[in-house]
Amino acid sequence: MALNLFAKKDLNALLRETEGETGGLKRALGAFNLITLGIGAIIGTGIFVLTGPVAATTAGPAIVLSFIIAGCACAFAGLCYAEFAALIPIAGSSYSYGYTTLGEIVAWVIGWALVLEYAFGAATVAVGWSGYVGSLLQDIGFPIPPSVASAPGTQLVQYHGAWVPISTLVGMGGNEPRQVSDSVLAALPHAVSRFDLMALVGIVLITLVLVKGIKESANLNTAIVVVKVSVLIVFLGLGIEYLAGHMSISSANWHPFIPPNTGLFGDFGWSGVVRGAGIIFFAYIGFDAVSTAAQEAKNPSRDMPIGILGSLVICTILYILVAIVLTGLVPYSRLNVADPIAMGVDVTGVRWGSALVKIGAIGGLTSTMLVMLLGQSRIFFTMAQDRLLWNWAGKVHPKFRTPWISTIVVGLCVALLAATLPISTLDELTSIGTLFAFTIVCAGVWILRRRQPDLKRPFKTPWVPLVPIMGMAISLLMMVSLHGLTWEVFLAWLCIGLVVYSLYGHRHSKVQRAARGEGADIPTLVK
Ligand code: ALA
Repeated sequence: MALNLFAKKDLNALLRETEGETGGLKRALGAFNLITLGIGAIIGTGIFVLTGPVAATTAGPAIVLSFIIAGCACAFAGLCYAEFAALIPIAGSSYSYGYTTLGEIVAWVIGWALVLEYAFGAATVAVGWSGYVGSLLQDIGFPIPPSVASAPGTQLVQYHGAWVPISTLVGMGGNEPRQVSDSVLAALPHAVSRFDLMALVGIVLITLVLVKGIKESANLNTAIVVVKVSVLIVFLGLGIEYLAGHMSISSANWHPFIPPNTGLFGDFGWSGVVRGAGIIFFAYIGFDAVSTAAQEAKNPSRDMPIGILGSLVICTILYILVAIVLTGLVPYSRLNVADPIAMGVDVTGVRWGSALVKIGAIGGLTSTMLVMLLGQSRIFFTMAQDRLLWNWAGKVHPKFRTPWISTIVVGLCVALLAATLPISTLDELTSIGTLFAFTIVCAGVWILRRRQPDLKRPFKTPWVPLVPIMGMAISLLMMVSLHGLTWEVFLAWLCIGLVVYSLYGHRHSKVQRAARGEGADIPTLVK
């Protein structure tokens, strides 16, 4: 039996399937809803948490440049996503685009890499959520015991009554004086964390909500987006006002803007700026989630590009401003904390500001976690529909109408990851998986333009092949800058994926079976 690894789904048949027919989903989302959906998925742990550690350990105040580089990669990839999302308005996003343009094996690899994006992404956000929840509980007098406050092995010390990671006191680089001397540090009570309890609790709670079935209300999402964006705008307002009155502080904190390279690959200097972009890229992830709502858009061909690119532009502007203000308020070497934005507000002396930031961040991160776990189960569901994964992954609960088994399996795995791995590991794995998907989507646009130039494209990526090439080049550059360990896990993950594909996927694939003339009984998700 000949096996065609590059068998493709027929694009025209797929387009006919989606015409008018939405698989039971309601076409209710307009351009505004799609922009808010994008912002809802984008703003999360990246800006609320990672900005601090990346500035402190990798890029310094030049994290602003890292944000610009990562934003450019997303803009190029976003233009390519927009072409596909308008052309193929179906739920599977880059996995489906890969299936129609590059073939089954590539689609499989993208789907498998997307697990890194969504599952590891949800775990990353959960760790960020845990940091803000822990900090808020501490403020109101219910501190989390240090043994379950953070990733296993994290060394904590009790400082001014609160348990904080030791790294936040000693700073991680640059020329800032250390906050406490070795002798003071040695005298503080020490503890070692065994696992991150709140990250686990966060994922379990969201999983339960998803199993029960969340009526994804566009209005609820809009409300959460308003809160998230308002919190960042309040931060900017307070920060800019403070900096305007204390110019000497900001000019001291912004110098050196690009701290000298510490000699280790990737720490500070220009290599730090690029690696910082690879890590902080996480902050932009989510605009591609807009493309998964294509079947629910009223006018996908016009509104998908607006939703994807609009949310990206708004977030990029916000991020750059927040990074400038935060590194002006706080010396970058002190930003290696779980709640850097709250720390920035503290500098301004506005007492209510920090509580507001924490509450806003917790609400905002909750919605990001939810979108990510939802995205993961949708990808598994779509792959199971194509019979590249086992039937159980696509099983729909008779009462709740949700893909409950895959939601629970994913939820348990993600909860375990969130409770046991540090945020830096989780975040880099998310970034590498997503950058990989971006690279393939960019390639896909270019390839499809050459193969089927006459296809009616409601939105056309400008300057093809320049834009796809730039998208691929910057994505690959950021991938290359990530740690060796991230690459090892990524490659190991892809190998496991290929084993699963060879043992199950290729034998049962709907496309392969159709090519062999066998019937395929495919389950569908009834919403
Ligand atoms: N962009 C999302 C975040 O920063 C994933 O949490």
